[in-house]
Amino acid sequence: MRALTWQGKRDVSVETVMDPVLREPTDVIIEVTSTAICGSDLHLYEVLGPFMDKGDILGHEPMGVVVEAGAESGRAVGDRVVVPFGIACGRCWMCTRGLTSQCETTQVREHGSGAALFGYSRLYGSVPGGQAELLRVPHADFGAVEVGTELPDHRYLFLSDVIPTAWQAVDYAGVGLGDTVAVYGLGPIGQMAARIAAHLGARVYGIDPVPERREMAARHHARVFDTDDDTHEAIREDTAGRGPDAVIDAVGMEAHGSPLAQAAHQAVSLLPDAIGRKMMEAGGVDRLSALHSAIDLVRRGGTVSVTGVYGGEASPLPMLTLFDKQIQLRMGQCNVHRWIDELLPLVEDPTDPLGTDDLVTHRLPLSAAPDAYESFQKKTDGCIKVVLDPAS
Ligand SMILES: NC(=O)c1ccc[n+]([C@@H]2O[C@H](COP(=O)([O-])OP(=O)(O)OC[C@H]3O[C@@H](n4cnc5c(N)ncnc54)[C@H](O)[C@@H]3O)[C@@H](O)[C@H]2O)c1
Ligand SMILES: [Zn+2]
Ligand SMILES: [Zn+2]
Repeated sequence: MRALTWQGKRDVSVETVMDPVLREPTDVIIEVTSTAICGSDLHLYEVLGPFMDKGDILGHEPMGVVVEAGAESGRAVGDRVVVPFGIACGRCWMCTRGLTSQCETTQVREHGSGAALFGYSRLYGSVPGGQAELLRVPHADFGAVEVGTELPDHRYLFLSDVIPTAWQAVDYAGVGLGDTVAVYGLGPIGQMAARIAAHLGARVYGIDPVPERREMAARHHARVFDTDDDTHEAIREDTAGRGPDAVIDAVGMEAHGSPLAQAAHQAVSLLPDAIGRKMMEAGGVDRLSALHSAIDLVRRGGTVSVTGVYGGEASPLPMLTLFDKQIQLRMGQCNVHRWIDELLPLVEDPTDPLGTDDLVTHRLPLSAAPDAYESFQKKTDGCIKVVLDPAS
């Protein structure tokens, strides 16, 4: 089959690789019909290189049709399924409490990590990813979610990551009717977080340096701002001088505006892998400008909900401010499976309350993936969300 593989820093290519095979009775193989590129893939493309191996298949936002089904998978050939990015058993202590991203059956203990993820480096189990023609889905009885047959792929595809991740970010922010929330970063995750918060009745402020990302968020009820010096002032003025009840960080470790940490990122990604890994594990290499801004902006007694991914072990936090402002900090990998039942009716709703029809800016063949990674990272060509179609 053809698959998008990691070859080195900012270097991915489509190669012919072995077809996946069933290994466990709970596995299925799917033929992938749509598979998206995520901001999390950009971390692998750039800073998490020391944990990648040449030839690793990327991708963790796939959907498709079952072409082979293990005897205990509970799925049948022909089922149309969407696949959550985290791999979970559905039966362990963590899974039964909704913490599927911490599944005790698939945890990658060797690296002290939570549940295994598709296409996400040694840290998360080196599981072949979904930017490919075919994908083996382990624990398919829980992790291949059957969906309807009538709506187009993009209505269901984002149940794999973007929509549950954004939903969890808003849930952790604790905002609802009449509350105020600012969303830092208007990539796909921030877009959906802003829409979900508005859908739940909150007043939403969206902040991002990229004009077309601000425009998209403005189409869905957010008041939008560039990352200017006076942005916080304007938002405080609009919230009786206090700042919003919650701030969602949907940027993560590669934020613009952290020149020192950016230099550290460049250094780490150029080091031999073994030394680079040590630096990441022991050092503070996150670019923290968005997180620091979130902590500054949130009102006293408010909540910062971190959904952007961070990776350094010793990244410094402003403890004085966090403590003095009495800020609640919530974060983590999304427990995708936990939210699916609530979200399925929303993505199937004919009125499209979350605006899933307005997120994808590019649908491209798999062969275009290397260019798409570059344009998504550099934010050229109006690129906000790319969906790859392995069959075209
Ligand atoms: N917690 C989870 O389970 C989970 C799941 C998926 C994605 N993520 C993470 O969420 C983050 C966003 O993902 P995405 O797909 O939307 O990616 P993205 O790269 O498209 O979005 C990041 C956005 O942040 C903006 N930005 C950069 N620096 C900024 C700053 N200082 N202030 C304000 N905005 C800034 C960029 O312009 C961009 O629009 C990534 O870190 C990704 O890894 C987490
Ligand atoms: Zn993703
Ligand atoms: Zn489990």
